[in-house]
Amino acid sequence: MVRESRLHPDDLVAPLFVREGVEEPQPIGSLPGQVQHTRASLRQEVSELVDLGIPAVVLFGVPEHKDPEGSEAQNPNGIVQLAVQDLKADHGDDLVVITDLCVDEYTSHGHCGVLDSAGQPDNDATLEIYQQIAVAQAVAGADIVAPSGMMDGQVAAIRHALDHAGHEQVAILAYAAKYATALYGPFRDAVDVTIAGGGNRKGYQQDVANTREAMQELREDVAEGADMVMIKPALPYLDVIAQARAELDVPVAAYHVSGEYAMVHAAAANGWLELDAVAFEHVGAIKRAGADIILTYFARRIAEGLQ
Ligand code: PBG
Repeated sequence: MVRESRLHPDDLVAPLFVREGVEEPQPIGSLPGQVQHTRASLRQEVSELVDLGIPAVVLFGVPEHKDPEGSEAQNPNGIVQLAVQDLKADHGDDLVVITDLCVDEYTSHGHCGVLDSAGQPDNDATLEIYQQIAVAQAVAGADIVAPSGMMDGQVAAIRHALDHAGHEQVAILAYAAKYATALYGPFRDAVDVTIAGGGNRKGYQQDVANTREAMQELREDVAEGADMVMIKPALPYLDVIAQARAELDVPVAAYHVSGEYAMVHAAAANGWLELDAVAFEHVGAIKRAGADIILTYFARRIAEGLQ
């Protein structure tokens, strides 16, 4: 009666990986229970998630061929575009399909953009590529595109490209406050990404020590036309989630990332923590802090627990 917040399957978005050129789903060692799906196993998994009441999935592609420009990301027959078509054919408007919009899974060097002569991401050249990817994803049937590369001006550039191509109804979920955290490690295993030369993303992702800068990024993305904004990772940044919810009038999403999930599994595998209890406490805390939408690898487990 006096409980102030509660989880519901409606709050959850399941992140899913789909890999080109494999016959069987490939387990991801550092993400227990998660796999790189084939197109067929993705369809099966998503049907089960829809039956559990989960309203949305976010898709990440693992292409067979990577190159410096990440060109497979914008190929109309690229793995994510094909998977979007499959899922929209299966579920129509009963499922919100979100596509991660970035090139790091597709570039041979692992950065979120094309590189300049100094080997650093070239912001503006990358925006043009993001525009092409956005249109390819929209043509495939994506309901929401989610730019995650943290290039300056990406939301405005993508909005412009989508509108120009007649996709005014496709929404943008901006990874607005995405921190240069140490918690993305298992994800990079999941998408076979190693950043060239032992590099990192500190040149474009947020400094983990900063809150005001994150608020600035969030406000800028809303001003550029983001329909929803995201804070990522989630648990170390509950302060940012709470502040964003208080100050902004768009839906606030939080991404409970791979490292946050893997830690709980590792401790539970050692018998040190109780998996379900901690999963509910962690994801519940993200809701309590103010997130309207929670992307989490625990989506299925939580929805099952709520049935
Ligand atoms: C970039 C992207 C990343 C994640 C989502 N989109 C990785 C990165 O910035 O290195 C991480 C998600 C996770 O750790 O679960 N396309």
